[in-house]
Amino acid sequence: MFTIGVLASGKGSNLQAIIDYIKEENLPIKIGVVLSDNPEAYALERAKKEGIKSLYIPPGKYKTFLEPDVEKKYVEVLKENGVELVCLAGFMRVLKKTFLKSFPQRIINIHPSLLPAFPGLEAWKQAIDYGVRFSGCTVHFVEEGVDTGPIILQAVVPVLPDDTPETLHQRIQEKEHIIYPLAIRLIAEGRVSISGRKVYIK
Ligand code: GRF
Repeated sequence: MFTIGVLASGKGSNLQAIIDYIKEENLPIKIGVVLSDNPEAYALERAKKEGIKSLYIPPGKYKTFLEPDVEKKYVEVLKENGVELVCLAGFMRVLKKTFLKSFPQRIINIHPSLLPAFPGLEAWKQAIDYGVRFSGCTVHFVEEGVDTGPIILQAVVPVLPDDTPETLHQRIQEKEHIIYPLAIRLIAEGRVSISGRKVYIK
């Protein structure tokens, strides 16, 4: 069994997509634990409903990252639960060195744009404001920079003339729910390798 951990701050639709895909495809992948920095995160509810261990760990005093001691705690809990791959699914904090070093090349994220375009917050809104014709989503490895790590998978969606940030985000999320579980599967099956910035898939 390949064990993953999911970190989520919000509604957790990607978490749900991962849970459903593992079940549908009967994959030898287990979600060892779901962690959140937000006690209200619906992701925690989703985990509970599925009988998956879930924990709220208070983030400490900073807004955009975890306090160093808290970061250690997150790592500890993930390790205790046998996590081999950490999947960020709408986790709203930047991970620092302690965390990154504890899971080298073993942390991935889903971002709602075609990186390197529109890193950071509300990427779907950035895409609309910029006036691009296409956007999408990216699964990438996490490194120190924000949304800069090697790209594993991407999917494209059109930006329509009457799109609002909400309608575009919705269209992007439909693709997220396909490529994020798939990327996890590819890594679990040992089919993904990294060389410099490039990711190779067997
Ligand atoms: C997604 O759009 C993801 O790309 C971004 O945060 C959002 C999380 O959505 N990183 P959900 O909580 O999985 O529904």
